[in-house]
Amino acid sequence: MSAIRLNGVCKGFGDGARHRRVIDDFSLEVAAGESVALCGPSGSGKSTLLNLMAGLVPVDAGTLILGHDGRSHDLSRLGESERTALRRRAVGYVFQFFNLVPTLTVLENVALPLALNRLGQRVPEARQRLEALGLGDRLDAYPEMLSGGEQQRVAIARALAHEPAIVLADEPTGNLDARHSEEVAQALFAEARRLGSALVVATHSAAVAERADRIVELVQ
Ligand SMILES: Nc1ncnc2c1ncn2[C@@H]1O[C@H](COP(=O)(O)OP(=O)(O)O)[C@@H](O)[C@H]1O
Ligand SMILES: [Mg+2]
Repeated sequence: MSAIRLNGVCKGFGDGARHRRVIDDFSLEVAAGESVALCGPSGSGKSTLLNLMAGLVPVDAGTLILGHDGRSHDLSRLGESERTALRRRAVGYVFQFFNLVPTLTVLENVALPLALNRLGQRVPEARQRLEALGLGDRLDAYPEMLSGGEQQRVAIARALAHEPAIVLADEPTGNLDARHSEEVAQALFAEARRLGSALVVATHSAAVAERADRIVELVQ
């Protein structure tokens, strides 16, 4: 069973004459433990594809199947609330701008979503992951006290805390300098591999893309 399978997926925006198809008959299969880099110019549909895979937006046509808990879930047949429930359990999402909660500490940023998902028992593992990511002495710090690279490693720990089958990252190093970019990419690929999760990373960085098992180039 694949972790992610898209078959003939189409997605467009706008009504009537203004309608534009952004994703046209797109197919992709990602196995558990495999990593894929999505490359292509701005506007080629990288974020749209990640949002489709996360169930944040519905497909217009085609099928999109996520593997979770030994079962296949066809997102194209689920309504919004079912997609949301599946996303909470099966997907971890890393954003370009980290999106940490500024009023919570590092450990709280990771523990809160676990508590909300009734997965408070996983906090010790999440704490170990933060330590493995070099943040052991930053657990009580607030996001604004951290460098961009540190904030993104916290965001990775948060995205992986519920041990999702699918990890999606949208230009995770787009806001970082070369050194922090390396650190963050290394952390993301290593932790996803350790969990056996499928990883899809949208990126403009050749250095990040080279870490992936496969590169998929989108054209505009
Ligand atoms: N919610 C939306 N409404 C209208 N147009 C959108 C929406 N989301 C994305 N688009 C359009 O779809 C195209 C692809 O965008 P996007 O997926 O963000 O590309 P990328 O991430 O590769 O830069 C762009 O032309 C963008 O303007
Ligand atoms: Mg984008």
